[in-house]
Amino acid sequence: MSGELSPIDKAKFVAAKRAADFVESGMRVGLGTGSTAAWLVRCLGEMVRDEGLKIKGVPTSTRTAELARDVGIEVISLDEAKWLDLTIDGADEFDRDLNLIKGGGGALLQEKIVATASDQMIVIADAAKEVGALGAFPLPVEVIPFGWQTTQALIEETLVSMDVMGRSSSLRMNGDVPFITDEGNHILDLHVGRIGNPRQLAMILNQMPGVVENGLFIDICDVVIIGYGDGRAEVRDINAGTVTTDQLDFVENENLFADMSD
Ligand code: 5RP
Repeated sequence: MSGELSPIDKAKFVAAKRAADFVESGMRVGLGTGSTAAWLVRCLGEMVRDEGLKIKGVPTSTRTAELARDVGIEVISLDEAKWLDLTIDGADEFDRDLNLIKGGGGALLQEKIVATASDQMIVIADAAKEVGALGAFPLPVEVIPFGWQTTQALIEETLVSMDVMGRSSSLRMNGDVPFITDEGNHILDLHVGRIGNPRQLAMILNQMPGVVENGLFIDICDVVIIGYGDGRAEVRDINAGTVTTDQLDFVENENLFADMSD
């Protein structure tokens, strides 16, 4: 079945598989959202089933919760867990300091709350997610529906004085209707092109009335695992200052690769 995967999907799988090595029995684990995180959830489900791994998972979206239950992971709420040993999630972009843009899947709010409540955050990604400067991927900002156009205007006006290249934004849609997050909010995608000072932008955005959270994850990620289609997995640890590369044996597994759509 793995022969049917695209190189990008293989890379995502490899990153997820390598990240699963960091998970030990007894851990409370934050489970990210998106296609890469879905691979991780499937890998952990297989370890629960075949290797007796005992973990409690805190999902970052209803989608992930559903998948986690389907593959046999015990799901608890963040408030039940209170604190997590580890969160593993995907990202839309990461830079050399492991600052991130997240929220392409619309789950940035729960993702940031869960990652912040964790001893360690590991990001799993394919190599295309690495950037010199954040911002080519439109920056998601979660806003409450009340007065969202006023909030949008305020954001665009504020962007004029920020170190960014563009200042247009668009309301994320789900077909003909606005996309609604798990918390009932909207997402504005900011087309800023390049963000000169991500920390400053994150702080300014979160001070605006109507903004719930933004997709800049600053100083939250500890480790990034970059997967490659040929089975290599590079592990960069920002705290230890180490970079290691392993070669994963790409074992074809009917169970894992079945129902892989996300
Ligand atoms: C969801 C996210 C995802 O982690 C991000 O969009 C990456 O997704 P994918 O692994 O599908 O490329 O932030 O809100």
